[in-house]
Amino acid sequence: MEARKKLFLIYFMLAGSTFAQSFHNPSLNGAEETSTNLGEVESRENAPDLEFQYHDHDQMTRYLRAVSAKYPELTALYSIGKSVQGRDLWVMVVSVSPYEHMIGKPDVKYVANIHGNEAVGRELLLHLIQYLVTSYATDPYVKWLLDNTRIHLMPSMNPDGFAISREGQCDTIHGRHNARRHDLNRNFPDFFKANTKQPQPETEAVKQWISKIQFVLSGSLHGGALVASYPFDNTPSSMFQNYEHTPSISPDDDVFKHLSLVYSKNHAKMSRGVSCKSGSPRFENGITNGAAWYPLTGGMQDYNYLWHGCMEVTLEISCCKYPPAHELPKYWQDNKQSLIKYLAEVHRGAHGFVMDENNNPVERAAIKIKGRDVNYHTTNFGEFWRILLPGTYRMDISAEGYLPQEVEFIVIDSHPTLLNVTLRSAKRIDGGPYYRPLPPPPRAPPVPTPSTGIFASLTNSFNNMVSNFFG
Ligand SMILES: *[C@@H]1O[C@H](CO)[C@@H](O)[C@H](O)[C@H]1NC(C)=O
Ligand SMILES: [Zn+2]
Repeated sequence: MEARKKLFLIYFMLAGSTFAQSFHNPSLNGAEETSTNLGEVESRENAPDLEFQYHDHDQMTRYLRAVSAKYPELTALYSIGKSVQGRDLWVMVVSVSPYEHMIGKPDVKYVANIHGNEAVGRELLLHLIQYLVTSYATDPYVKWLLDNTRIHLMPSMNPDGFAISREGQCDTIHGRHNARRHDLNRNFPDFFKANTKQPQPETEAVKQWISKIQFVLSGSLHGGALVASYPFDNTPSSMFQNYEHTPSISPDDDVFKHLSLVYSKNHAKMSRGVSCKSGSPRFENGITNGAAWYPLTGGMQDYNYLWHGCMEVTLEISCCKYPPAHELPKYWQDNKQSLIKYLAEVHRGAHGFVMDENNNPVERAAIKIKGRDVNYHTTNFGEFWRILLPGTYRMDISAEGYLPQEVEFIVIDSHPTLLNVTLRSAKRIDGGPYYRPLPPPPRAPPVPTPSTGIFASLTNSFNNMVSNFFG
């Protein structure tokens, strides 16, 4: 009940802003409307001003509202909840379909400023919003991206921590935590070790959010280093657990390395792997396995991947956590290409639909690539996405009440592989009722079950009502 109430609140925030207005605007999806709408977008190219300076919470809120008012066809602003001190956790969607999930097209996200004093990502996401909305009409690549992807951008997951942080402080931890002194990137459920930390409102809001929307790809923006750090952040308990610098390899290590390299190689300097200062590590090609750098419990990226099949990489984008504002244009130039190219990687691999014999979507079917012992699940539209490098794969599809199926397919470099799978209902031998009773939806956090593979029991959940609004 509590969850439902919250979700309605989110909906009303949307309704209160520009939902009604956008309802009357023909979507840019309609082929016939395209040319006229493009003209409109062009004539609005004077986006609200966005200076290269730090924006406090009120200034940021004003900017986001102004953009969503100016670009109702390309943006939607929503809040996923509030911080301890009551600041909204804003998310801006930028897409040709900002208010509605596009069936068959993926949702992606960036989250910045989870550590309140790591401020560069917060400003870069505002500039990314600005860049995307002002380039849609003129840049074919941006147009393609927004036509085929819903991009959710959260400039600050820790607005309270940011409020007490100070410009120019490169190395302190003042402002890192939320208002109750919790490190939000140690506050998520952990697969490898028990996390006994008290869940914080900011973390709870993010958990709700990513359980409602099937995000396929994500980046978490940090500062204090220059490296793309990929799962796993934590390691299985073992007698060797105290040894540092041991990588904790995920079943999708090849994909995570690739995604990290896309960021580092499109960045002006990250791939050079120069250490931030003497004594701090240097990272070959500007990437690292998270645990190989240092293991941590309760991080957001392992949670995204193992609970929700969302591939998240931690992007450390500035040696100085809160550099002087006059350096912001340089950070934007260094990261602009990376930020865009990384998100486009969501269109790599395989995606499709799982349907029953009557062409109805099969929700929560388990999708498992052979040799990659982690379960992904279909959405309530029967959709799935799996980012994979070129190669030949076998995939198991199973759902309660249906005969499991195995599909072999090829992934190539130039475009994603579309796979539509039809599952046949499991009939009883005596010709009785077709469907076995459905078990209650999984609620408990995943528990390792060694007999069926360590990742087999991971769960994912969707909520029909909210998916209608947020997809
Ligand atoms: C795959 O299924 C989707 C959803 O039913 C449908 O829209 C699409 O046309 C199908 N594609 C192919 C190639 O069968
Ligand atoms: Zn950080």
